Amino acid sequence: MSDLPAYHPPNYNLKVVRQFTIMTVVWGIVGMLVGVLIAAQLAWPAMNFNSEYLHFGRLRPLHTNAVIFAFGGCALMGTSLYIVQLTCQAKLFSARLASFVFWGWQLVIVSAAITLPLGLTTSKEYAELEWPIDILITLVWVAYAIVFFGTIAQRKTRHIYVANWFFAAFIIAVAILHVVNSLAIPVTFTKSYSVYAGTIDAMVQWWYGHNAVGFFLTAGFLGMMYYFVPKQANRPIYSYRLSVVHFWALISIYVWAGPHHLHYTTLPDWVQSLGMAMSLILLAPSWGGMINGIMTLSGAWDKLRTDPILKFLVVSLSFYGMSTFEGPMMAIKSVNSLSHYTDWTIGHVHSGALGWVAMISIGAMYHLIPILWGRKQGQMYSEKLIEMHFWMATIGTVLYIASMWVNGLMQGLMWRAVNSDGTLTYSFVESVEASLPGYIVRFIGGGIFLSGMFVMAYNVWKTTRMPQQLVAEKAS
Ligand code: HEM
Ligand code: HEM
Repeated sequence: MSDLPAYHPPNYNLKVVRQFTIMTVVWGIVGMLVGVLIAAQLAWPAMNFNSEYLHFGRLRPLHTNAVIFAFGGCALMGTSLYIVQLTCQAKLFSARLASFVFWGWQLVIVSAAITLPLGLTTSKEYAELEWPIDILITLVWVAYAIVFFGTIAQRKTRHIYVANWFFAAFIIAVAILHVVNSLAIPVTFTKSYSVYAGTIDAMVQWWYGHNAVGFFLTAGFLGMMYYFVPKQANRPIYSYRLSVVHFWALISIYVWAGPHHLHYTTLPDWVQSLGMAMSLILLAPSWGGMINGIMTLSGAWDKLRTDPILKFLVVSLSFYGMSTFEGPMMAIKSVNSLSHYTDWTIGHVHSGALGWVAMISIGAMYHLIPILWGRKQGQMYSEKLIEMHFWMATIGTVLYIASMWVNGLMQGLMWRAVNSDGTLTYSFVESVEASLPGYIVRFIGGGIFLSGMFVMAYNVWKTTRMPQQLVAEKAS
């Protein structure tokens, strides 16, 4: 590891971090490309190309699996295995096991990319993969937990930095969620049936689904935030006490909020109301995290004008704040009766997914990549291209979510409109027709976001191959 900057002790395992970093960019592009394709299909159905393998119903889970578990998963595993070494001042527990985690996870992703277009699915949202792949996920996850907690056990510091607390909660919670929700009876090698049925199945599924949001798409990324925002701003975290309070509040409240996905169903009414109440309470710890991140810039606000990486990180926190305000509102039963089944939900999802998850990951990658390839912090090939990417990501996200809000509200209102004689004012197909402009705007927004990812790939490629002479010139 002779190419490493002096401040990384040579025995740290950065190889696995580099591998995950590159695959974050690769899977980001693949997952979003599929996202843009399915966005096109919703505007122009002929984009299904009359092929069962490219049909919306098969590509949609491919998109969600690719962006959440491949793009998000690689970003989380890479950053957590980096941060745990730096903050514990210890090398990774086992290089071999770490390598198994990387290759095992890639195998899971490739298996998903093959089986989902073939139509092999459990049909449980975000848990579509069939039982042999589920077993592989469990093995990889246990290895990941051993590497992460083993490194913490070997730490040279007395204290465990808060980012690691968030990663630890993410690892433990996802393990429990995955095992419980995936319990199934195999019938053949490619088909199984869930051990749960009816309402219980629905409740277990949304306990899983909502906590996948809470622990996969939130807690892990908060861990990322607690390391990269202070590092990039060169400021200490605003309040360490707040970070501890919001950690415990967040993880203890999230687990109760799942029933807001099942309003007005056969789930007992009191369970729905409990889910709604817990979702409203969840606003407080969520905003505690956002405020802690944003206020870390106190005294360094001027950096926002000039540092595009910091822009990514701070704007991601703003989207986090926005989606965690919107979520509790949508969890109110009377609001949900309007928003459910409409594109409003899709807008909410992507304000979290593009605005928060993707943007914080991109910011973290821009911070990490120069360091991992032996450059100085911030020394990407081109800062101008990062700035350009930032604007493409922001404009793409805003076009996506604004068009879905308009569509969602319009659909909800059209579906519930009744004439004085009690008949429906609009037929369903009229609401579909009225949604077309929104779908085209979403396709354009998604296309801009995806193009930004290509700009990033070019910048990363150039950075990793930047000759040392250019590095020295840029540093001077
Ligand atoms: C170029 C960027 C993207 C585009 C164009 C895009 C497009 C889409 C489309 C068209 C759908 C289906 C909507 C429907 O069924 O009506 C969808 C669903 C979804 N996408 Fe994306 N997406 C993008 C990025 C992402 C990212 C980065 C994530 C996560 C990190 C994500 C997570 C999801 C999820 C969770 C769903 C399912 C939502 C639900 O069931 O309510 N997407 N996306
Ligand atoms: C305080 C925090 C949050 C609350 C209370 C919340 C609440 C909600 C509610 C009420 C729904 C609609 C359920 C329905 O009508 O079917 C929903 C859907 C969703 N939210 Fe959130 N949300 C929060 C934060 C987030 C964040 C930060 C993300 C992403 C990073 C996210 C991702 C999703 C996804 C993927 C769905 C769609 C699930 C599906 O139907 O497939 N949420 N959320």
